[in-house]
Amino acid sequence: MLRVGFIGTGRISDLHALEYLQDERARIVAVCDIDGETAERRAAGWDVPSTHVFSHHHELLAMPDLDLVEILLPHHLHHPVTLDAFAAGKHVSVQKPMALTLAQADEMVAAASTAGKLLRVYENFLHYPPVTQAIELIEAGEIGDPLTIRIKSNAGFSPNAWHLPLASLAWRFDPEKCGGGPLVFDDGHHKFALAWHFMGLAQEVHAWIGRMELMPGRILDAPSIVSWKFPGNRFGSLEVVYSPQLEVETRHYAQDDRVEITGTRGVLWINGGHGRLPGVPPLVLRREDRTRTFDDLPTGWELSFVHATRHLIDAYESGDPPRLTGAEGRDVLRFLLAAQQSAREGRAVPV
Ligand SMILES: NC(=O)c1ccc[n+]([C@@H]2O[C@H](COP(=O)([O-])OP(=O)(O)OC[C@H]3O[C@@H](n4cnc5c(N)ncnc54)[C@H](O)[C@@H]3O)[C@@H](O)[C@H]2O)c1
Repeated sequence: MLRVGFIGTGRISDLHALEYLQDERARIVAVCDIDGETAERRAAGWDVPSTHVFSHHHELLAMPDLDLVEILLPHHLHHPVTLDAFAAGKHVSVQKPMALTLAQADEMVAAASTAGKLLRVYENFLHYPPVTQAIELIEAGEIGDPLTIRIKSNAGFSPNAWHLPLASLAWRFDPEKCGGGPLVFDDGHHKFALAWHFMGLAQEVHAWIGRMELMPGRILDAPSIVSWKFPGNRFGSLEVVYSPQLEVETRHYAQDDRVEITGTRGVLWINGGHGRLPGVPPLVLRREDRTRTFDDLPTGWELSFVHATRHLIDAYESGDPPRLTGAEGRDVLRFLLAAQQSAREGRAVPV
């Protein structure tokens, strides 16, 4: 039985909790949030006794009967709280991006090694069923050798999007706490992780990051375009657009994600992620002269969390390294930071 404590019980923690609540191999035994009301509400929903609800992470980490912590905090807190968790002898699963700087990421990886504990960077997009299926098709040679990856991330609106508390948005517009903007840095982690997952680490990146003032002090990092070069004459790009009048189908964030991977023999399209544009199949394969659509794939975005958490529990049991390992999370962070640097300096930079 893996005994898990949640540090940070804000917006995303409900999806994070799903698999722990249904998998008999694990249990949420404690929660911590500086917002006491949120922590109490989550604890009640997850059957955590009120004696195990804390407002300071040190109190939760002092519990002897706790194996692993899920860290779901604003980004600037990932590094210090991870170090505290290793010092307390706990395994760590930390949300993406793992830290704000590579030096912090290095300290986290070193602390995991010193403590002899597992460090997992939680990147659920890699576990989204259409992505898993796409990987299988690529490994089976369906598109030949992948040459390019093109990712489009389109935020819009939806009457069914979930409620985002103001506090959940506020820190994302503060680069000191977020590390960059909400779309290219925070959400961009998912997109760079996909590029890394499908094609490996880029060598060089060139980014133009736009600025859209939503209200005084709230600058959205869009429209933006990031392009990069992989070793071996292969390329990728990410385009980020906010279209306030575009309706997106979702129960979560009102954002459509599209990925197109082109190889020597064919093309793969993954349509959707957080949300989708209605009427498009979740996965399409064009191989040579034939087109195949995968209409019946499960597409609920929450499934990416269910599978990501199940993968962690499997790894905990088997002793295999979980994706992303700390070192892999550092690679994706390297990519993210290089894109930010490129946009600041107006030039291509090595990753
Ligand atoms: N994987 C995904 O798709 C995905 C989606 C959304 C968010 N996230 C990540 O999850 C993390 C949390 O995001 P969120 O949207 O839930 O944010 P949020 O702001 O809704 O939740 C953060 C919570 O942390 C609490 N908190 C802040 N400082 C604290 C402290 N010192 N001690 C204890 N609690 C503290 C806040 O009160 C809040 O409840 C971030 O790292 C974010 O990038 C990932």
